[in-house]
Amino acid sequence: MFNDIVVSRFDEQTWEEILGHARVDGAYTSLGNYDDHDMFALVGAAGHHMGMTPQECLQWLGREMLPRLGGIYPGMLERFQNTFSMLKALNNVIHPEVVRFHPDAIVPVFHYYEVGTDSMVMEYCSARGICSFAHGLMQGCSDYFNETVGIDHTQCRHRGDERCLFHITT
Ligand code: HEM
Repeated sequence: MFNDIVVSRFDEQTWEEILGHARVDGAYTSLGNYDDHDMFALVGAAGHHMGMTPQECLQWLGREMLPRLGGIYPGMLERFQNTFSMLKALNNVIHPEVVRFHPDAIVPVFHYYEVGTDSMVMEYCSARGICSFAHGLMQGCSDYFNETVGIDHTQCRHRGDERCLFHITT
């Protein structure tokens, strides 16, 4: 998946260069096979190539990934009318279905706070610390629905906070 996105936006040679810099085996093609160390090596190398920090690269990757996930799980995106309802369905609908098809998948859990009609706070909880990827996927949702959504990553464990929080406003 990572390689598809890089190849479609750039080219095969760019991907080979990134793999070379990251010193990661090219067999890694879907998100599930990456351990965190390889994942960060790859986003570090890819980000360097594209002039982004690793976090910016993860975010970019998430944004590019969302519509492709819709292709892998047909009918999933179409079930929802807007970004807000899709984000609220992650724990109960979307990721459980992913795990049903791929029992070894690692999916995050979100906690929802202060849920109103057009705003809420989401906490990202996962053994993987790839909250920036979550941020990009959220942006991918707003792209998909053609909505303007405020997504603020107000607290982040990578910045020394205790947890990763996103303020969502639609
Ligand atoms: C159609 C919608 C979606 C589908 C089909 C989907 C599916 C998946 C799949 C297949 C994985 C990889 C699991 C693995 O093998 O390790 C994953 C991981 C992940 N998903 Fe989703 N996802 C969807 C929407 C979203 C959205 C909107 C978010 C935004 C918050 C999100 C957040 C994540 C994150 C952060 C991970 C990385 C694993 C982790 O951090 O623990 N997903 N998802």
